[in-house]
Amino acid sequence: MEQLRLAVIAGDGIGPEVTLQARRAMRAALSDVELVETEYELGAAHYLETGEIVSDETLASLAQHDAILLGAVGGDPADPRLAGGIIERGLLLRLRFAFDHHVNLRPTKLHPKVASPLREPGEIDFVVVREGTEGPYVGNGGALRKGTAHEVANETSVNTAFGVERVVRFAFELAEQRRKHVTLVHKKNVLVHAGELWQRIVDSVAAEHPGVSVDYLHVDAATIFLVDRPSRFDVIVTDNLFGDILTDLAGAVGGGIGLAASGNLNPAGDFPSMFEPVHGSAPDIAGRGIADPTAAILSAALLLEHSGHPEAGKRIRDAVDADIDARDGANRTTSQIGDAIVASLTA
Ligand code: NAD
Ligand code: IPM
Ligand code: MN
Repeated sequence: MEQLRLAVIAGDGIGPEVTLQARRAMRAALSDVELVETEYELGAAHYLETGEIVSDETLASLAQHDAILLGAVGGDPADPRLAGGIIERGLLLRLRFAFDHHVNLRPTKLHPKVASPLREPGEIDFVVVREGTEGPYVGNGGALRKGTAHEVANETSVNTAFGVERVVRFAFELAEQRRKHVTLVHKKNVLVHAGELWQRIVDSVAAEHPGVSVDYLHVDAATIFLVDRPSRFDVIVTDNLFGDILTDLAGAVGGGIGLAASGNLNPAGDFPSMFEPVHGSAPDIAGRGIADPTAAILSAALLLEHSGHPEAGKRIRDAVDADIDARDGANRTTSQIGDAIVASLTA
């Protein structure tokens, strides 16, 4: 029987609670495919216990899988032992960089039955194509004269022609499959060097896609439109940091961060892609069994779609749609939502 080798990093906080439900949904959705799951104990709790963030051996072992499912990593931001984003940078970003996850795909689709916080949401169905391996995330910075009145802290945003072009190409190819519109979001009125590079590459790739219309928004204005008229968006292409911020907002307007899924893609497949909810470990609700597992379950659907099992991915989406259709506004626990989705998958 065909196998799907899955590495699972449940992580911290609500990560284990939501990935448990995502794994149940995957098992229920796959037929004629053996899901071989390997669990990796990684995250803030594991680091505090063992001192390991992620070893080279663990990285090599993760690389042997077809895909990675990640819950969320990161502990209490007030814990001095976790200062400096030691887990976020040392684990999550390390994986994204090591496995060359240069496309961070973050779709938002408002289900008709889900209450958006917007008064007039209209049709919300867009995808943010967030660059995943460059920008200010690369760690190219430093502090000078630290602790003095003349301290200088630099965080350099790295934008390469190679890195920008490959993510822009991905965005245009995606738009060809959708409503054929690409919006570049940047801040080229201030960040002129990077902004000019992004715009020039978008213009040149656009010339190869005459059927795709293109526009540009400054990132501040893009936040207005995401709230005022989100229906104007189809595919948004943007850098790593703007994409991070826009996709939490996108999650909120799309019915809640508990529904927002993402994929860190290595489109060439030379390393496993990694799928995770947009949200974090939510320490404020962790351990109470009330996190919405839908974002993790939809991330599992993305995983299946990008790992050669689109029908199984679609089955999960249909089960999530059915679950949302049946919502009556009552509060449900994480496992009640998981149960309902698994029940409709196995019905
Ligand atoms: P967060 O996304 O964890 O939480 C923000 C708010 O959204 C909280 O009120 C939380 O309760 C709520 N929320 C999040 N997911 C939810 C769900 N599934 N159901 C219901 N409510 C949900 O963001 P934060 O508080 O800024 O970060 C907490 C920790 O997670 C930090 O350590 C941060 O670095 C880390 N983080 C990790 C990832 C990741 O691993 N991919 C992503 C973002 C943040
Ligand atoms: C996300 C998170 C991460 C990011 C953090 C935890 C490093 O916010 O996946 O959106 O900024 O990419
Ligand atoms: Mn984020």
